[in-house]
Amino acid sequence: MHILFVCLGNICRSPMAEGLFRHVAETRGLSVTVDSAGCGAWHEGEAPDARGQATLRSRGIDISHQQARQVEDADFETFDLLLAMDNRNHDHLTRLAGPERAGKVKLFLEFAAGARETEVPDPYYGGPDGFEHVFTLLQQASEGLADHIQSSR
Ligand code: 4NP
Repeated sequence: MHILFVCLGNICRSPMAEGLFRHVAETRGLSVTVDSAGCGAWHEGEAPDARGQATLRSRGIDISHQQARQVEDADFETFDLLLAMDNRNHDHLTRLAGPERAGKVKLFLEFAAGARETEVPDPYYGGPDGFEHVFTLLQQASEGLADHIQSSR
């Protein structure tokens, strides 16, 4: 199972999702390959936002080694699931995928049982509270995705 998390810049939400889901999968002994990418290329090569790194570090998860990159066509071949953080990312991926591969594109919060929100809000221009809220949503969706993978094996 190969999973790609996608947001706009690949420095806030999707690198947090990548690090957190990798941690959840390792804790459960699931064998998955996890990566993340951005719809845009503005932050190519950069480490995750310091606020997102701190949010995960306080839970014992280190994402400092991850580097931003842009989504590329080959990702639709390599990955089984491309999980978008919000509707805008979802629309962008669906267009790039084309009709044959669009079935691989989903909103990540589809897996967050009980979450009232359907999109992970962009925390880039806000304060630390925004990153905590993002973490809560990503945690719900990560546990739900791990349950989904385990129950389909
Ligand atoms: P992300 O947040 O999509 O969660 O990585 C953003 C980071 C940077 C920008 C936008 C969103 N930006 O416009 O540079």
